[in-house]
Amino acid sequence: MTPDPSEWRKSQFRPLPEWVEGPTTRLVHGARRPDRNAGSVTYPIYQTSTFRFPAAHSEAVDGPYHYSRNSNPTVEGPAELLRQLEGGEVARLFASGMGAISATVLSLLRTGDEVVALQDLYGGTGGLLADLLPRYGVRVRTLSDGEARSPEAHVRPGTRLALLETPTNPTLRVHDIARWATACDVVGAHLVVDNTFATALNQRPLALGADVVVQSATKYLGGHSDLTAGVVVGPAALLARIDPFDRFGATLDPFAAFLLQRSLGTLALRVARQNENGRRVVEALHRHPAVTRVCYPGSGSPEEEGIAARQMSGRGGMLAISLAGGARAVDAFLHGLRLVQVAASLGGVESLASVPRLTSHRLLSDEARHARGIDDGLVRISLGIEDPDDLVRDLTRALDGIG
Ligand SMILES: Cc1ncc(COP(=O)(O)O)c(C=O)c1O
Repeated sequence: MTPDPSEWRKSQFRPLPEWVEGPTTRLVHGARRPDRNAGSVTYPIYQTSTFRFPAAHSEAVDGPYHYSRNSNPTVEGPAELLRQLEGGEVARLFASGMGAISATVLSLLRTGDEVVALQDLYGGTGGLLADLLPRYGVRVRTLSDGEARSPEAHVRPGTRLALLETPTNPTLRVHDIARWATACDVVGAHLVVDNTFATALNQRPLALGADVVVQSATKYLGGHSDLTAGVVVGPAALLARIDPFDRFGATLDPFAAFLLQRSLGTLALRVARQNENGRRVVEALHRHPAVTRVCYPGSGSPEEEGIAARQMSGRGGMLAISLAGGARAVDAFLHGLRLVQVAASLGGVESLASVPRLTSHRLLSDEARHARGIDDGLVRISLGIEDPDDLVRDLTRALDGIG
């Protein structure tokens, strides 16, 4: 009898001893499989689109792998690590964060459904909700930051899905995942949380009651600004409806999957340093006279500080600052940076700065931008793993030079 291919694939991972507790140990050893050919310590890259059938007759097509759009051994390693890290039943990898988010949203909704989401979402996700879903007869209601503070007033019977991003991009507002989960449970809506900024090392949405967690693995999980990937983690019954392979085709390539698994081994070390760099840089920039506002998880209000303290074990390496001199000051500041590079994206080992007004939120009107706290002087900073003193020196020298 042919074995069930998905059971066979799962059985290839060597189980961890039951006394293993630490997330770093899990991320290094949690997806180990013997390489029976050469004994390679890292798992090989199966850079193939197709796999030979065990025998040339139609009953033998039930081998473990057929075609890489459906499954590929290299892609299964990082998926297994992320499943364990997020604490879900099933994890699926996609070609990008947007691939993961769009497959999730399109799979869980049908014509006539309603979605409730933050106004304050990553621009790509906001565009998907505003432009694409209405074409399929899905109603989308977006909530201001103030409205999103009381989800029970806005998630109502008929709401099928709620989409939350916390901390938000780029102003680092923090929302109460457990409170949103309760409001969704009352009306039977699915709560989907984008955990890209925090990662499961700083915040565990599934443990707080979310149904599904989505993430751009291009950012902290990949961590080296050299791959694009996305992940969805959740219960088997829901994930069976979010099948990336047959319908959406946004499969992760084996080479990117290999890079992702390489990166996950150091995720905990990188995130710990990025948390530390966040604390140190925020402390220094708060005091600088050129800075009128520092956005950092918990800085939005005392209520948000309480939420962040409860639901985040670390605040991450993302922040945004507003400069008193507006757009002109932003220009001078960016020109003064020597280590921090000016580029979009985030979560890599190298620090990056970007101007949301000109990048992720450029398509919004001035009014809509200002309503989201994105003023002309706002600069978003993704801190890498450089030494904190060097980062503080680079950023404060550039601020001193604004003139
Ligand atoms: C919070 C958040 N979610 C999702 C995405 C989309 O991810 P990707 O660029 O991998 O498609 C991004 C990208 O910047 C993001 O910042």
